[in-house]
Amino acid sequence: MIKVVKQIEKDYDLQVNLFFENEFEIPQNLSEENKSFIEKVIKKYDFTAKKSEELKIEITENDRIVSLDFIGFGKREEFTENLYREIIFEKFSKIKGDILIETKEKELDIPEVFGEILYNINYNFDNFKEKKEEKRLKIDFLSNRENININEINLVGEATDIARELVDLPANIINPVSLAERVLELGERYGFEVEILDETELEKLGMNLLVSVGKASKTESKLIIMRYLNNTSDSNKIALVGKGLTYDTGGLCIKPADSMLEMKSDMGGAATVIGTLCAVAKSGIKKNIVGIIPACENAINGNAYRPGDIIKSLNGKTVEIINTDAEGRLALADAITYTVRNENPTEIIDLATLTGAMMVALGTFTTGVFSTDDEMYNLLEKSSSQSGERIWRMPLFDEYREQIVSQVADIKNLGNRMGGAITAAKFLQEFVEETPWIHMDIAGTAFDSTVKWLKKGATGVAVKTLYNYAKNR
Ligand code: BES
Ligand code: MG
Ligand code: ZN
Repeated sequence: MIKVVKQIEKDYDLQVNLFFENEFEIPQNLSEENKSFIEKVIKKYDFTAKKSEELKIEITENDRIVSLDFIGFGKREEFTENLYREIIFEKFSKIKGDILIETKEKELDIPEVFGEILYNINYNFDNFKEKKEEKRLKIDFLSNRENININEINLVGEATDIARELVDLPANIINPVSLAERVLELGERYGFEVEILDETELEKLGMNLLVSVGKASKTESKLIIMRYLNNTSDSNKIALVGKGLTYDTGGLCIKPADSMLEMKSDMGGAATVIGTLCAVAKSGIKKNIVGIIPACENAINGNAYRPGDIIKSLNGKTVEIINTDAEGRLALADAITYTVRNENPTEIIDLATLTGAMMVALGTFTTGVFSTDDEMYNLLEKSSSQSGERIWRMPLFDEYREQIVSQVADIKNLGNRMGGAITAAKFLQEFVEETPWIHMDIAGTAFDSTVKWLKKGATGVAVKTLYNYAKNR
């Protein structure tokens, strides 16, 4: 989709030049006549390359009509990579064809970021539409830089698309069983090991929280385990745990219709973990990473778990169910215990579309992050700034724990409405034991986010950040 070239070797439908404000320079590879013509047009329209300003000019060079497009990125001192993402997404969503990108600015010579945005533009969830979007955007980026890792642009883009598609696919296609099958296929294709535990095994192990959440569903629950162990001499092992609610009706505490509508996306955490495993495995990095997904459906039938039920977790702690719609933390709690006890990770990162409260707190372009370990958080912050994905740290103060103390069991699955994202995180913390831990609540950022360089629907949030994290570790 993007190719980095060192010189112009063919004719293009369009040649795009990227500029900073008031630093416009006429492209050199044109006839003198055309240069002075362009100068006049620039003057006439007073083009100064302000943020997002665009000027299109048609010229004839060697008897051929050449379309030029100048795009402004505003003042050099105000430039950020996210502004680049925003402008590239806005402009190139509307353009089609075989295009050459040129710039003399070092800061704008970033085909890696351009390539990432191309994936966002070219991704369309049109599997179920007769009329498909035409994918006709082919970019050659004329770069002066060395060591551009095109391979990495593509593998991260592809992995993000895998996560996006899993989230966009509806719950009549993706259920715990079909999700497990897809992961088996991806494991073969990308090169990681997959183990699936079925519901009877989960029962036998004592993963009663996970089994309870899924037991009113026609489709049985699964625990999906992915292992990419590619460095036996490195004692580090990162475990990624992803909430895999293939649908969340709310259970007996049923959701109102309009909030239920987007609950096919409640396996967003799982999708990000799967995408990340694909990316790291394809890159071949010398690291050890495991992915664990509690996959289940929070449905309703006569077998449904109820408010008031007291359930013994895999860890041994008993949990009083206050609300069956606070199901994600239950499924995750057992998956985290399983991970701590069976996979021996040196650190755990869980991702979950966990709470509406997180969305209320931070909106839909920042992921809330909770951590018991400053070093881990700092590494995640560095990794997220490299990927342009926004995160913000949330507190885990012990004062919040009081809210999940139960009268009749060790803990309960819901606190007050206020601070709901934090008490959900405190609930998970009960299960991580001594392992350094990060919890990312992606309820606001996994689906229909307001990030300007993403489309509506699934976002594939945090695949890039976690790929960077694994590399940086
Ligand atoms: N899956 C939801 C959280 C969610 C809400 C994700 C909106 C994405 C968008 C979670 O299982 C849930 O239902 N949470 C409830 C908890 C409630 C019972 C206190 C919520 O946050 O509303
Ligand atoms: Mg719920
Ligand atoms: Zn949920």
